[in-house]
Amino acid sequence: MTNQNLPMAFSKVISLPSLLLAISSSLLLASLLAVSEAHYNSHVPSSEPIVEGLSWNFYEYECPDVEYIVRKHLKKVFKEDIGQAAGLLRIQFHDCFVLGCDGSVLLDGTTSHPSEQQAAPNLSLRPEAFKIINDLRELIHKQCGRVVSCADITVLAAREAVYQSGGPEYNVPLGRRDRLNFATQAEVLANIPGPNSNASFLLTSLATKKFDATDVVALSGAHTIGRGHCGSFIDRLFPTLDSTMDPIFADDLKEICPEKNSTNTAMNDIRTPNKFDNKYYVDLVNREGLFTSDQDLYTDKRTRGIVESFAEDQEKFFEKFVHVMIKMGQLSVLTGKEGEIRANCSVTNSNNPKLVSPVEEDYETQAKL
Ligand code: HEM
Repeated sequence: MTNQNLPMAFSKVISLPSLLLAISSSLLLASLLAVSEAHYNSHVPSSEPIVEGLSWNFYEYECPDVEYIVRKHLKKVFKEDIGQAAGLLRIQFHDCFVLGCDGSVLLDGTTSHPSEQQAAPNLSLRPEAFKIINDLRELIHKQCGRVVSCADITVLAAREAVYQSGGPEYNVPLGRRDRLNFATQAEVLANIPGPNSNASFLLTSLATKKFDATDVVALSGAHTIGRGHCGSFIDRLFPTLDSTMDPIFADDLKEICPEKNSTNTAMNDIRTPNKFDNKYYVDLVNREGLFTSDQDLYTDKRTRGIVESFAEDQEKFFEKFVHVMIKMGQLSVLTGKEGEIRANCSVTNSNNPKLVSPVEEDYETQAKL
């Protein structure tokens, strides 16, 4: 801006005061543009209800750029590999459904004390996604001090994953704190439904978390991006073909997974595998859903109409998806003085050698609390 305008100003005979005025207004405009970008946030309050302790502008003073930092870093990550968006979106689900949105899924375990990550439903979470969350944490804590929780970073990363894959942009309430422990293997298994679940099971199981049929169908729409390993759907192909699967689609899947123990992957949404849109529902209407848990939403009379309406109307799906993501993002959150703000998303502070050693720098000491 400044560089473009200055030669124009010099080409005319102008007085010193007006030259200074021209320069200062150019600088002001440039700095205003920079500020509006640097302070990117989506703090416009949404009409969605929020639980006590969370707020739409939680980091306004302590870390006003947090959302911008997440957006900017993930833009780079997704440019390299858009698959990571799916990995990040799934992590929010696996965090929130087990003990609540508290960053417990991010914790590393040991052989004698296995963490959530070592439980069967979590073995296919992408290791890169955990690293990305820790990279974001490092960038954020460097700039603001240790004020933003790993649980909030997880929710912000999922929001970006949706938005940067072509989905809706939505505000998320913030202020979650990180849990001091992780769940048992049994708790993970009890709370994350398997891919062979039918709609009846999903409706009953998600009702315990206060999700209705529309919520269940909207949440499953997250499968508009990402992949599934053969093991998650092979029972639909062998020994007999699932009668609710289109036979041509089945032949394609058999090529990817020729035998029971194949370890390959297929895309969740065959139409637009990397784009967050409503084509997942078009797949279901065409009997091309990957998992039983997907396809049965079309087979079951209680959810079929919702699937059809989302297949016909992407805006409607986006609206319901945003609603249910904000709702899921508030399951059993820790707030206020509960839990902690981890200095490393993979370990609790009391197990973090860097915090115990006096020579290591703790970003919290830089934070203006
Ligand atoms: C409703 C019950 C659900 C079931 C039974 C289910 C099951 C699964 C399974 C089995 C996979 C593939 C794992 C693998 O084989 O690699 C998967 C992938 C995925 N799920 Fe779900 N899921 C459900 C709900 C959700 C929800 C609520 C979200 C997010 C809001 C979600 C997001 C994803 C994403 C994005 C992937 C792709 C991950 C990647 O590419 O790494 N799922 N899901």
